[in-house]
Amino acid sequence: MMRLDKFLAEMGIGTRQEVKKYIRKGMVTVNGSPALRPEEKVSETSDQVCFEEKPVSYVKYEYYMLNKPAGVVSATEDRRDPVVVDLIREKKRKDLFPAGRLDKDTEGLLLITNDGALAHRLLSPSHHVDKTYFVRVEGKVTGAEKKILEAGVDIGENGTEERTRPAKMEILASGPVSQVLLTIREGKYHQIKRMFQAVGMQVLYLKRLSMGKLTLDPALAPGEYRPLTKEEIASVTDENAGKY
Ligand code: URA
Repeated sequence: MMRLDKFLAEMGIGTRQEVKKYIRKGMVTVNGSPALRPEEKVSETSDQVCFEEKPVSYVKYEYYMLNKPAGVVSATEDRRDPVVVDLIREKKRKDLFPAGRLDKDTEGLLLITNDGALAHRLLSPSHHVDKTYFVRVEGKVTGAEKKILEAGVDIGENGTEERTRPAKMEILASGPVSQVLLTIREGKYHQIKRMFQAVGMQVLYLKRLSMGKLTLDPALAPGEYRPLTKEEIASVTDENAGKY
């Protein structure tokens, strides 16, 4: 059970103050009768709440898989650039946020949710969730670079050492422009770009393919998204998701 004004505000009908006004004006019904008290308690599952005669169903958590396009920032708001949560047009909740960050020019898997506990489990370094990226770099990636990057490199700046933890690399194509899959467990700022810089190479294109057990749906073009399936939600909400 929860307060009617909270129910409606969380479902994006308006701010708490606006919603109180709507209730007092008789614009809200519960099981067919006007509800005039914002503090009235309603059941999220069994009461039929309507705003202006349209049913409002309650959703506690939402989970979307987004193929983040380049040019959009991993944030809930930004003064200059479009943000990832605005790409989710059918969202019911107003409190969605990206679970993790990708650089503005990086594409690929981003989970958009309002489940803070899940985001914490996916992102906290102690949970060791693997993240796999497809990387296109300028220059020939050989066994030598693979060995160095897998062992860990210093990506620190201004003389301070900052070593990356062990990583895994698979070389897909090696030439003037190379392509690799790189799996890391951390998420330091610009980590993959800085790892390649540490071996004198520049990243040309970066796309995240997976996070723990969650894999980007290949049917999603950049900018497209879909709700997670029940199985996917279970796989990421499972305490051991993504752990070795
Ligand atoms: N590493 C980067 O350099 N950028 C990202 O967006 C993700 C990982």
